[in-house]
Amino acid sequence: MRRAIFPGSFDPLTNGHLDIIQRSAPLFDEMIVAVLNNPDKHPMFSVDERCEMITEALPSVDTARCRMIVESFSGLTADFARERHATAIVRGIRAVSDYEYELRMALMNRRLEPSIETVFLMADEEYSYVSSTLMKQVFELGGRVAGLIPDIVEERMKAKKK
Ligand code: PNS
Repeated sequence: MRRAIFPGSFDPLTNGHLDIIQRSAPLFDEMIVAVLNNPDKHPMFSVDERCEMITEALPSVDTARCRMIVESFSGLTADFARERHATAIVRGIRAVSDYEYELRMALMNRRLEPSIETVFLMADEEYSYVSSTLMKQVFELGGRVAGLIPDIVEERMKAKKK
């Protein structure tokens, strides 16, 4: 049984995240999309809202035979991965600029839990500039984000603005 976790803030989920989920699904039997509960970061969406949006958006991607689970977690990613008996941590890399941060995290996670490998996947170049932070910023300032985030996420963002 190959189980992976795909950890992140997902505030909010973007089509770049969904692209990574679709690419990684054939590699695993089960994948837990692990939403970090980090209230200190003042997220736009609560952790429950983020989990709901991911659950609603997942059927729009082909996740092959991989069983998908959405869960929130607090604390260390390495601890959560160990508790769930995952063998891999999936992370997406968009551009070289992501590499340094991701390398540091992967090496730290390996030190914390040597039996778990980080698996990096390259997002489609179409999403190489898409980040949750940029999506929130552009949306807040009235820019178009359609096609870069799932429709249900855009609807929820609009509802928040009202
Ligand atoms: O989507 P993000 O914000 O890039 O995800 C970052 C995340 C949640 C994967 C990272 O901040 C994380 O793992 N946080 C949990 C705390 C932790 O384990 N910190 C040490 C990482 S080496």
